[in-house]
Amino acid sequence: MSKQYDIAVIPGDGTGPEVVREGLKVLDATSSRFGFNLKFNEFDLGGERYLKTGEAMPDTIVGELGGHNAIFLGAIGHPDVKPGILEKGILLRLRFEMDQYINLRPVKLYPGVECPLKDKEPEHIDFVVVRENTEGLYTGAGGFLKKGTPDEIAVQESVNTRKGVERCIRFAFEYCRSRNKEKKLTLCGKTNVLTFAFDLWERTFYEVAGEYPDIKADYAHVDAITMWFVKNPEWFDVIVTDNMFGDIITDLGAMIQGGMGIAAGGNLNPEKVSMFEPIGGSAPKYTGQNKINPLAAICAAGMMLEHIGEKEGGKTIEKAVMEVTKNHLKSLGAGHMGHSTSEIGDLVVDYVNKL
Ligand code: IPM
Ligand code: MN
Repeated sequence: MSKQYDIAVIPGDGTGPEVVREGLKVLDATSSRFGFNLKFNEFDLGGERYLKTGEAMPDTIVGELGGHNAIFLGAIGHPDVKPGILEKGILLRLRFEMDQYINLRPVKLYPGVECPLKDKEPEHIDFVVVRENTEGLYTGAGGFLKKGTPDEIAVQESVNTRKGVERCIRFAFEYCRSRNKEKKLTLCGKTNVLTFAFDLWERTFYEVAGEYPDIKADYAHVDAITMWFVKNPEWFDVIVTDNMFGDIITDLGAMIQGGMGIAAGGNLNPEKVSMFEPIGGSAPKYTGQNKINPLAAICAAGMMLEHIGEKEGGKTIEKAVMEVTKNHLKSLGAGHMGHSTSEIGDLVVDYVNKL
C-alpha cells in the first residue's frame, strides 16, 4: 500500500483560493509521480465566513486540523474586516494553539528572477530565516492605562521564555547542520539595547552552540542585518531570531528574492502539525482575475512535502519552479508574468512530470 497523507486545506480569502488551486494541482502531479497519496480536506475559514457568522474561527477547528499530517493555507485577510481581527482570530490563533513555534522562511533567488539588488545572482542569495513564532511581542501581553485620555499609557511587552527561546535555537542549529551549506548560524538580535530579552537569547545561543562544534555561531544586530541583506546577502546561511525581528527581516528577504510572488513559509511544530503558506497575503485587487502569481503557494506546497517526509517530491517541485522562473516568466509580479495563474500551475506540472 502506498503512503497516504491527510492534508487540511484552507484556501481563505482573496486570491488564496486561486493560488491554492494551483498548489493542489502540482501536489497531485507530484504524488502520482512519486507514488504516494494525498487526501485533501477543505476548511472554510477567512473573512467571508467571519462576515457571515461573526465568528473568526470555531473552537472545534483546532482539534479537527490537529488530526491532519499538515495544513496548506492560501491567504487570510479581507478589505471589509478591520485589521487585526482575522490575523489574531485565525492565523495567529492557529500558530499559538497548535504551538507552531518555528516560522521557517527560505530566502532564495531563483534563476531568471529579477533581483532589485545590483550585481546579485542566485549564488549570492540563498539563506533561511528561523523565526520564533509563538512568543515575543506577539503574545498580546500588555495593555492600556487611562485609555483615551491625554495621560494614556500603552504597554506591549515582549515575552521570552527560556523554553521557547531554547527550542527555537536548537531547531536552528539542527536545521543548519542538516542544510549542510556554510554551516553558519547567525543570531539576529539587539543585545545593545534589549538587554533583558536578548541577553536570554544570547546566553542560550552560545550555550547551545557548545553542543554544535561543527556550526559557526555568529551574531549580528537586527539593524545591521537589514544593511547586510542589501549589501552582502551572501554572508548568510541560517539566521535565528525572535518573532518581531523575524517578521520584519523576512519581508525584506522576500523582496531580495524577487518579491511576494515567490516567497513561501512554514509554521512548524516539529512534533505535531505544521502549516505552510505563501506569505504574500490575499491581494484583493487581483482576486478572481487569474493574474496572481501562484509560485509562492506552489513553493509552500513543496516545503510541506519535504516536511512530511516526501523529500524527493518536495525537491522536485522546487526544481520545477526553478525551470519555470528560468525559462518562462517575464516577471514575478501579478499581471506581468506573461502567463496567467493557471498557466503557471500547468507549466510547473509539466516539469514535475518530466524532471
Ligand atoms: C507574517 C504576517 C503575519 C505576522 C501577520 C499577518 C499577522 O505578516 O506571517 O509574517 O505578522 O506574523
Ligand atoms: Mn510578516
